[in-house]
Parts: sequence; structure tokens; C-alpha cells
Amino acid sequence: MKPLDLTIKCFLGFKEKTEIDFRPLYEDKIFLITGPTGAGKTSIFDAVCYALYGEGSGETRTKAKCFRSQMAEENEEMEVSLSFEVKGQLYHVRRVETAKGVNKAYFYTENDPEKLLVKIKEVNTEIEQIIGLNLDQFKKIVMIPQGEFREFLTAGTKDKSDILKKLFSTEQYEKLQWMIKERYDASRAADRKLVMKFNEILKEAGMEGKDIEMGPDALLEMLQSAEEEIAHMQKEISELTQRQKEIEKEITETQKNNSDLETFQKVREEYGKYRNLKKTFEDKEKELKLLRKIEMITHTEKQLADKESEIRKLQTDITILSEDRKKIAQYLDRCRKTLTAVTDEAINLDEKKTKKNRLEDLLLKSKRLSEANLQLEKLNQKGLEFEKKLAFLRKKERDLSALMEDEKVASRELHDEKVCQMELKMKLQESSSRLKTMVTLFNKAQKRDEVEDNIIRLRKEEENLGRNLDVVSNAYLHELEKRNQSYAQILRSELTDNDPCPVCGSLDHPSVIRDVQEFDEITLKNLEEKKRNLEKALQEKKSDVKNWIRNHEDLLEEIFIMGDENGINTFKLDDLRIIGGDEKEKYRRLENKLAENMTSVNRCTTNLDTVNERIRVCRKDLDSLDDLIKASDEAKAMINDLKGEIRSLQNEGVPKESFGLSAQIKELDRIISDISLRLEQAKKSYEECYNQDQNLNGQESALNQTLISAHETAKGLKDQFFKKLESAEVPRDIYEMNKHKVSEIDQIDEEIVSFFKGYNAAKGVYENLRAKGDTLRHKDLAPIRTHLQETEQTLSDKNLYLKEAGILVHNLRRSHERLGEIHVKYLENKEKLAVIQDLYDTANLGMGFETFVQSYYFEGILIRANERLRKMTEGRYQLKRRNETENRREKIGLGLDVFDEYTGRERDVQSLSGGESFKASLSLALGLSDFIESHKGSVNLETIFIDEGFGSLDQDSLDNALESLLELNMSGRIVGIISHVTELKDRIPGRLEVSTLPGKGSRIRINGGI
Ligand SMILES: Nc1ncnc2c1ncn2[C@@H]1O[C@H](COP(=O)(O)OP(=O)(O)OP(=O)(O)O)[C@@H](O)[C@H]1O
Ligand SMILES: [Mg+2]
Repeated sequence: MKPLDLTIKCFLGFKEKTEIDFRPLYEDKIFLITGPTGAGKTSIFDAVCYALYGEGSGETRTKAKCFRSQMAEENEEMEVSLSFEVKGQLYHVRRVETAKGVNKAYFYTENDPEKLLVKIKEVNTEIEQIIGLNLDQFKKIVMIPQGEFREFLTAGTKDKSDILKKLFSTEQYEKLQWMIKERYDASRAADRKLVMKFNEILKEAGMEGKDIEMGPDALLEMLQSAEEEIAHMQKEISELTQRQKEIEKEITETQKNNSDLETFQKVREEYGKYRNLKKTFEDKEKELKLLRKIEMITHTEKQLADKESEIRKLQTDITILSEDRKKIAQYLDRCRKTLTAVTDEAINLDEKKTKKNRLEDLLLKSKRLSEANLQLEKLNQKGLEFEKKLAFLRKKERDLSALMEDEKVASRELHDEKVCQMELKMKLQESSSRLKTMVTLFNKAQKRDEVEDNIIRLRKEEENLGRNLDVVSNAYLHELEKRNQSYAQILRSELTDNDPCPVCGSLDHPSVIRDVQEFDEITLKNLEEKKRNLEKALQEKKSDVKNWIRNHEDLLEEIFIMGDENGINTFKLDDLRIIGGDEKEKYRRLENKLAENMTSVNRCTTNLDTVNERIRVCRKDLDSLDDLIKASDEAKAMINDLKGEIRSLQNEGVPKESFGLSAQIKELDRIISDISLRLEQAKKSYEECYNQDQNLNGQESALNQTLISAHETAKGLKDQFFKKLESAEVPRDIYEMNKHKVSEIDQIDEEIVSFFKGYNAAKGVYENLRAKGDTLRHKDLAPIRTHLQETEQTLSDKNLYLKEAGILVHNLRRSHERLGEIHVKYLENKEKLAVIQDLYDTANLGMGFETFVQSYYFEGILIRANERLRKMTEGRYQLKRRNETENRREKIGLGLDVFDEYTGRERDVQSLSGGESFKASLSLALGLSDFIESHKGSVNLETIFIDEGFGSLDQDSLDNALESLLELNMSGRIVGIISHVTELKDRIPGRLEVSTLPGKGSRIRINGGI
């Protein structure tokens, strides 16, 4: 990274916009940034760091976070822009902090200006990537900040470790170590768990003391012997099952023999019973035949009896019917008489109805009359109320016009007060701005006086310097003269006779001096240096005076312009103080007037509000006036209509009271409905009675007709009965004797059928079994059953045992399988453990991974640093990493000792002198930068800047240190040093001088330019 152009404005010590072109400084590869304390040297480093990383170079300023120059005006922006080069490529970055404190960043590559980055995060990331270093790395190897130079040398293990962690991001190795430990612990735990599980399974299976390495074979023997036992038992059970089947078959056969014998004995007995009853049932068959013949005849006899009974019933019905007809005839006669009487009564019914209608009409009119009278009364009442309300509203109308007048007066008053207020405010504003101008003018006048005092002081200093310069110049000229004379004396002392004089060529030398006095060169040199310094100081003073005069002129111009604009022509501080006081008094008076006016405005506003409120209430009341007039007119019209109606009703003779009319109508109504009801009932009764009589008459003639036909049917049936007896050849007495049994025919028939069915079946079975049955004998089942029970018991015991043995073998097989699975897992884990154990042992060997890596880096840095240190100390010192054995985990630490060649022993670096520790620190910083460059291929360290005094070094040490730095630039690296050391100023021609002017901030000068 090579800074090319830096622009700073309002940043730390730099108030004015300052541009630094670094290129001329790079010509000699090494340059100096110099200037008095507080001149702004570190501010330049801070600006470079800020432009690149948005942070300062040193810890303190980064922590303080106050980069904005306090000299900047309130509305000015802080700006830092940097153009820089990395590997031949040009980049531009610009960071701004607005007056309101908003931070902005802009970045682009020279080659691609279109691709502008504006997000702070993106800009930071891009620059870090381009440079290849983060801020911490940058500050350790490119731009080493003031006060942090020795930090790396003297820091203890812990702090160095933190620095290395930041530089090389070594925390990843610590993470890796933890990861290995976690994996190792997990693998160890898994191993223990698997062995435990293995032993548990063995124990469950009844086995102990076997090694997991045997795997599932630890259970093999036990499993095989259990399997053999099961096979033997299965064979025994199969034989027993065969035997059980044979016994069961024998039992079945014996049971069949005994049951056959029993059946045969039963059949033989039953068949004997049937044979004894056979004759009885043959007789029953004959009786059944006779009964079937009788049954045919009883049917006709029954039809005859039914018909005779029907004839008797018909005769009874006819007798009853003629009795009823007599009664109906009497009732019909009575109804006829009643109808005639009621019909006579109903002849004058219409007359009564007409009378009733007339009375009803009169009643309606009478009701209307009293209603109209009532309405009239109410309307008269309402009319009176309307009159009263109208009178009230007319008064309100008069009130409203009075209020409107009041409102006009109040509005005018308020308007006048407001106009007055506006005028007062304008005057107050004018007075306020004039007051402010007076203050500014007064401040400027005060400053003008200070500047004038300053110019006088500076002029005096300038005069003094001029005088001093004259004195020193005279002394210098005097010394010069002395030296010339001394040279002349030397020349004259060396003249020899006959040798020509080198000045005039004469061979004669009358005034040869033999005793030459030696001239003091140092005094002349000192005077020359002093003269040069005074000239420079005088020049600076003159420039200061010029600047202050310019300031004074500017101020005067500003003051005159302001005075002109505000009509002020005296600028003495006392005069200005009096004018300002008068203006202040004027302002105060205006303020009082405005307060009084505001009270008046408030009063007028309240007054106007009150009048307006009263107008609003009045208007609200008057809102109902039109409606009221309309309602009153309507009421009057209705009163007139009603009066006309009442008059015409009275003229018709309509009575006022309607009670008598209602009673008459009611009585007439009752009579009319009574007659109508009775007439209706009489008609209905007569018609019903007449219909009934007609009906009974029809029924009687139908019954007589039915009776005649029944007599004829009965005669036919009697003839039929006797003919059937004859043809069936059943005598009448036999018939009469057996006809009651006809109802039993079905039962007798059923008994006969059932008997012969049983007889034939018993006979069939008996005939079938007879041949075999005679040979059957009873056999005893008990001993066979006992044998079967014994066999079953043995078989069940054996099965139970087999089941238990089966479970055992199943469990053993399962355990065998699980042992196999665990063994596989165990072997896998063992393999992993072996690898992780190796890593774990390595990671825990004395120090942690991170420490190991850090110590590796540190060694690399030390090797390179020692190369530098050896040269700077002429082989005396070597840096050594200290072994710290007190902490078990950090056997090798990062503390530093120094090996002293003079004593042949090591000691703490803290014991080095100021100059020695500077050399050691410089070596370490250079070693670090060498290491990073060789280690990080992508990083190209083109520059190194050191903000540290070289004041602690003597002449030789300075030579050595410079040699080391020059060696750096031999390799192409540019070295920038901040220092006040005068020797450096003499040896390093490339110089950036920084100075400061009170109130104006830092200024720069490159290689003695302007
Ligand atoms: N925010 C700020 N506003 C104004 N001035 C500031 C601000 N911060 C620092 N300064 C001043 O700016 C001046 C320049 O500071 P800087 O650190 O650059 O000086 P220097 O030349 O490095 O001095 P030294 O030789 O003592 O290290 C100092 O007077 C410092 O107090
Ligand atoms: Mg400084």
C-alpha cells in the first residue's frame, strides 16, 4: 500500500483543506515527517488510517472517536480523501462526516470509476481485501503508531498472544482444539458405553468375564448347546403326540361299539310295543271311513238350519220396523204444526229490520256530534297556546337585531387590536435582529482590537529577530573575514624564496609569516547555523505578521460593511456598548407593549365570543317561528270546519246523547234473531222427520221381499238332505248317533298316520340292526382314558419345557446378534478413537493448538527480527522466546528474553536501555513485516511508517538503525518516519514539514517548498 495523495479538511489538527502529494517524498525511498510538538504529524498518519479503515492510527484517538477538528465551523464538513496504490493499481477513497455528524464513505478503482461503493461496510471490506491486512495488522506492520511501538516487545505472554491472535486470526486453532477435545471425549465415552453394554448383555445371558474383543463369539458355545437340547426335546414330543393320537382313536372306536349296542336294544323294545297296538288302529281306520260319509250329509243339514234361523230373524225385524214407523208418523205431525206457527210469527220481521237500520244511522251521527264538540274544545285551547308562543318569538326577533349591532362593534374592536399586535411584532423582530447585529459587531470589534494588539506584539518580535540577525550576520562576516585572513597567513607561511607566489607570481617574499595562528572552524559553522535559523525564524515571523494584517483587513472590511448596512458610523467599543444598550431598552419597551396588547386581544376575543353565543341561542329559538305560524293557521281552519259540521247535525235533529238509541237497537236485534233462529230450527226438524219416515217405509218393503225368497231356499235344502242319506246308505239313527264325532275326523286321521309311520320306522331299523346287534358286547372305557390322560400330561410338561428352552435360545440368539452389533460399533469407534487420540495427544502435548501455532509464527518473526537486531547492535543482542514452566498448559510461552553476547546469558527485555529497546522494537516490527510478507503471498508491503522519536539513540545506534531502514528500501520498500531528531533531518533529504498557526491549524511544506 502506497499513499499518493491525501486531502484533509477539518480533521484533528487540520482546519483548512490541506493536500499532501507524497510522490516527491518517495524519490529517496525514505522520508521524514517533522515539525514541533502538536504540529499535526500524527494527524497525517491518523488521516491515512481513517481514510482506509475509518479509524485512527493510535489506540487513544480511536477510543476517543473525536476526529472532527474542534477548530472547524459548525456547518463545515470533515473530509479525508486518499488516493493510494497497491500492486500498481490506483484506488481512491473519500470519507466525510457532515456537520450533523453523519458519516459517509466513497470508494472506486481508477480503472473502473463507474463502480462506486458508497456503503461504509462495503468500502471497509473492499479496502481490507485489497490491502490484505486488517486494521490491527496494518497498525503493527505498515503504520506503527506513536506510543505503541514498544508494546509488542515488552508485552507478556497473554498480551502477545492477543496481538498474535488479532494478527493471524489464530482463534480458529483454539476452536479446532476444543473440537478435537469434544470429539475425543465423545469417542471415549462411546467406547466405555459400548464395553458396559457388552458386559450387561453377557450378564443378562448368564455369562461373565469375557473380553469385548471376542465379539459375539463370547456367547456361541452356550447358544449351540441350548439349540441341541431343543432338537432332542422336539423329537420326544413328536413320538408322544403320535402315541396320543392312537389312544384317542381307540377311545372313539370303543364309544361307537357301546352306543351301537344301546341303540339296538332300544329299537327292539320299541318295535314290540308297535306290534301290540296294530289291531286297534286298523279298527280306527274303518270308523274314519263312516265318519267321512256322515260329514258330507251334516253339511246340507247345517245349511238348512241356518236358513230357518234367518227366516225367524227377518220376521222379528219386520215387526220392529212397523212399530218405529208408527212413532215417526206422530212426530212428523207435531213438527208440521210448529212450523206453521213460527211462519206466522215471521211475517212482520222485515218491518223490524228497517226500523233497526234507521236507529243505527241516528246513533252514528249522534256519536260524531259529541266527538266534533270535543275536538272543537281542544282546538280552541291549542289556538290560545299558539298566540302566547307567537308573542314570545316576536320579542326574540327584536333582541336579535340588537345583538347583531353589538357583534359589529366587538369585531371592529378585536380587529383594531390585532392590527396593532402585528405592527408591534414586526417592530420587535426588527429590534431583535438589530440587537443580534449589534452583538456580532461588538464581538468583531473586540476581535479587531485583539488582532491589532497581536500585530504590534509580532512586529516587536520581528524587530528583535532582525536585530539579532544583524548581530549574528556581522559576527558571521567577521569570522569569515578571520578565516580568509587565516587562509592568507597559511599561504604566506608556505612561501619559499625563488618559488613564485600563487597570487602575484613574485619570487621575492618580504612578509613571510612563520608563526601561523589556527582558525576555529566550529565557531564559524555555529554562527552560520544560527544565522540560517534566525533568517528562517525572521521569515516565518514576517509571514505571520502578513497573515495577521490580512486578518485585520478582513475584519475591518466586515465591520464597515455591517456598520453601513445598519447605519452605524462609530466602531469604538464604548460607543457600540451604548448603542447596544439603547437598542436593548427599545426592545424591552416593545415587549411590554406587546404583552399589554395581548391582554386586550384576549378581552376582545372573549367579548365577541359571548355576543356570538347569545346570537346563536336567539337564532335557535327563532328557528321554530315559521312552523308555529303555519300550525296556528291550520288550527283556525279546522275550527271553522268543525263548527259547520256541528251546525248541520243539529239541524238534522241528531240527539246529543246516544244511550236511549243503543237500548232500542239492542232489543230489536234480540227479537229479530230469536224469530229467525226458531224458524230455521222448525224447518230443519220437519225435513229430518219426513226423510226418516220415507226411509223406514223403503226398508219394510225390502225385508218382506227377502223373507219370501228365504222360505223357498229352506224347502229345497230339506229335500236335498233326505236324498243324501239314502244314497250314502246310512240309516238315520246311525247318522244321528255319530254326527257329533265328525269334528274329530282330523284328529283320528292324524293318530292313524302317526302310528303307522312309527311302526314302519321301528320295523325298518330293527330289521337292519338285527344281524349285527346280536353279536355286539359292551366294552370298558375307563382304563383307556386313564392312559390317555397320563400321555397328555407328559406331553404338556415336555411342551412347557420346550417353550422355556425356546425363549432361552431366542434370547441367546438376540443377545448374540446385539453383541455382534455392539462389536461392530466398538471396532468402528476404536478406529476413530485411535485417530482422534493421536490428534488429542498432539493438541495437548504441553501447549494448546493455538499457542503452538502462535509460537510457530512468533519463532518465524524472531528469526527475521534477530537478523535486524544483530546488525543494529553489532552482534551483541539476540531475542529469545522464554520458556515458562510454571503454567502446565503453556509450557512454551511468548514472553521475550534477550541474549547478551557480552555476558553469555539471557535476561528480560525490560532490562534493555531506552535506545536498546528502541532497536529491539524496531527489529521486531521489521521482522514482523518481513514474516507477514513472506507468509502471506497476497500482501505486498511497499511502505512502512513509524511514528516514534529516534531521540533515544546515540550517533552509532542511529547509524545502525538507519542502515536497517535503508536496507528495507533497498528491497523497494518506502520508509516514512516521524521524528524531531536533528541528525535524521540532516541525513534524510525527503522531508514533510508540519507547522501550526494559532487558530488556523496545521500547515505542511514538502521538501522545503511553500
Ligand atoms: N479534534 C481536535 N480538534 C482540534 N485539535 C485537535 C483535535 N485532536 C487533536 N488536536 C490537536 O491537534 C494538534 C496536532 O496533533 P498531532 O497528534 O498530530 O501532533 P503531533 O505533531 O503528532 O505532535 P507530537 O510531536 O507531540 O506527537 C495537537 O495540538 C492536538 O492537541
Ligand atoms: Mg504525534
